[in-house]
Amino acid sequence: MRIAVGADHGGFPLKSPIVDYLTTAGHEVLDLGTHNTDPVDYPDYAKAVGEAVLQGEAERGIIICGSGVGACVAANKLPGIRAGLCHDTYSARQGVEHDNINVLCLGARVIGVALALELVQAFIGATFSGKERYRRRLAKVAEMERILRPVTD
Ligand code: RB5
Repeated sequence: MRIAVGADHGGFPLKSPIVDYLTTAGHEVLDLGTHNTDPVDYPDYAKAVGEAVLQGEAERGIIICGSGVGACVAANKLPGIRAGLCHDTYSARQGVEHDNINVLCLGARVIGVALALELVQAFIGATFSGKERYRRRLAKVAEMERILRPVTD
């Protein structure tokens, strides 16, 4: 699977272990930075990862910030991105199976490397179940996205 990974400075400590884990597991990783601990703005990395997913450069994305909250808020502003902040493996797996999340958000100041890798494994290993009730709910989410999008012209 092609996976886009991005982090701000708060998430940076988890990025390399995740990139290494995914690469070793045979995935193709698009590392969108940041590449050191100099302070940056998490929306820039959420946007880069989200756009990579929306443009088909990656099938899924992982965004890491300090708490995972800012990354998740920002990523979900992109129509078509369904980002989930998951710090337990049940949510990381079910978020894909039921809610078809295409971006996993993590907080490097909240969880350690071992749990992060288990979360990534659960997220990447899961597939959307496609059941009618989940499709129906997702269609309602997509409709909210469509209705609530501001008119720009
Ligand atoms: C950066 O200090 C921090 O605010 C950011 O990484 C993130 O936790 C925001 O949600």
